Amino acid sequence: MQSGNSATGRFALVTGGGSGIGEAVCHRLARDVDGVAVLDIHVDEARRVAEDIRQAGGNAFPVHGDVADRSSLDAAIVQVRAELGPVTVLVNNAAVESFHLFADIAEADWERIMQVNLKGPYLAVQAVLPDMIAAGWGRIVNISSLAAQIGAFKMAHYSASKGGVTSLTRTLAIELGAHGITVNAVAPSFIDTPMARRAIAANDLPIPFEEILKGYPIPRFGRPEEVAAACAFFASEEASYVTGQLLGVNGGAAF
Ligand SMILES: NC(=O)c1ccc[n+]([C@@H]2O[C@H](COP(=O)([O-])OP(=O)(O)OC[C@H]3O[C@@H](n4cnc5c(N)ncnc54)[C@H](O)[C@@H]3O)[C@@H](O)[C@H]2O)c1
Repeated sequence: MQSGNSATGRFALVTGGGSGIGEAVCHRLARDVDGVAVLDIHVDEARRVAEDIRQAGGNAFPVHGDVADRSSLDAAIVQVRAELGPVTVLVNNAAVESFHLFADIAEADWERIMQVNLKGPYLAVQAVLPDMIAAGWGRIVNISSLAAQIGAFKMAHYSASKGGVTSLTRTLAIELGAHGITVNAVAPSFIDTPMARRAIAANDLPIPFEEILKGYPIPRFGRPEEVAAACAFFASEEASYVTGQLLGVNGGAAF
């Protein structure tokens, strides 16, 4: 655990903490901070993850929240502050995906992807920023994607939302550095989670999955824990002079 500037301890909030990468990030951060809020639109999954963390001796609080909805998110953060304390580590991880050729992307689908993947981080940062500014310390980690760096077949909406996340990261780093708040992004490639397995199962990839992996310098599926380790570094005290950066956790798929 780290002492931080807050008199009450250091607490993290992970959006989409009920599955995949978010779940691994919750487990990893529970080792480093005083408590982790596991926020998810599927609250049963958040409860399961928080219970697992508690069973392992950590401190976790499950909370329902829809990152695309300001009132839902604000209500969740009120509960987190009451249950744990001020939030000074935020991991913007929640996201949704769908697969359509660009010409077939329905407007409603485009808007849903943008609301969750890009508006979500905007709302979440605004919600916790007062806590970070009051502490004079904060860590924001945004989960972008390899799709933002090199594009992704049938994912124009998703890759555009993740490009927005990368750009948001850089500008927030500029604005918040003087407050002791760092803002960085992690860009995973294929990581073994329900999201990636849905894409493989639905045959939504341009070539067979195994063929894609063969093209990577490290030719295998990434693990959620490998993304969580990068998040933990950005969230750590040791990363205090690292901000505005994009770290690919991608087996060397892009540099
Ligand atoms: N898995 C991959 O291969 C991969 C690759 C690149 C980037 N990513 C990114 O990593 C992050 C995690 O992805 P994952 O693979 O673990 O996905 P996942 O689908 O397994 O988990 C996403 C979680 O977010 C939650 N969620 C969805 N909408 C939400 C909302 N409106 N409010 C709150 N929670 C919501 C879901 O309930 C789920 O628990 C995402 O940002 C994703 O875009 C994943």
